[in-house]
Amino acid sequence: MKKIGLFYGTSTVKTAEIAKKIQAAFGDTTMGVVAIEEAWRKDFEGYDNIILGTSTWFDGELPTYWDEILPDLDDLKLKGKKVAIFGLGNQVDYPENFVDGIGLLAETFEAGGATIVGLTSTEGYTFEKSKALRDGKFLGLAIDIDTQADKTDKRISDWVAQLKKEFN
Ligand SMILES: Cc1cc2nc3c(=O)[nH]c(=O)nc-3n(C[C@H](O)[C@H](O)[C@H](O)COP(=O)(O)O)c2cc1C
Repeated sequence: MKKIGLFYGTSTVKTAEIAKKIQAAFGDTTMGVVAIEEAWRKDFEGYDNIILGTSTWFDGELPTYWDEILPDLDDLKLKGKKVAIFGLGNQVDYPENFVDGIGLLAETFEAGGATIVGLTSTEGYTFEKSKALRDGKFLGLAIDIDTQADKTDKRISDWVAQLKKEFN
């Protein structure tokens, strides 16, 4: 498997904590783990396998820095690259915008030519609407440590096992 770059944005550090858990689950010390406020456009193009992490805030918006950098990333050259996205959200308090951030990132990175991998089932979640959905599946991994913290570790280990097969 080629080198992985993991880019995450967070408001109250929860997404950063999940990023660390994902890196540990890969057991990959060569993984580049970058806070989005420290990322440059060219950094994304330097990896064939990319993991993106974001939370969702204020009725379906990206956290600070993701929202600032995303407009600059609309013409990235990502053909042939694989992108997997994890998103934190709260399905009880925000059932109409649950993990929308996953969908917002998928849109931009797909426009750059990347293939989105790591799609997961919605089984076990209860919500009304989400921009993260395509054909009934999440376009990545949804993590809800606010209301389903006990499911997080298993969700991460299953997803990482899936990515080990789906990445180049
Ligand atoms: C004011 C506020 C707005 C939020 N808006 C949403 C939302 O629209 N959709 C969602 O799924 N979660 C929403 N959440 C839940 C956060 O995404 C969740 O708590 C997440 O774990 C925060 O991660 P972070 O600390 O990495 O930013 C919101 C939380 C707060 C406090």
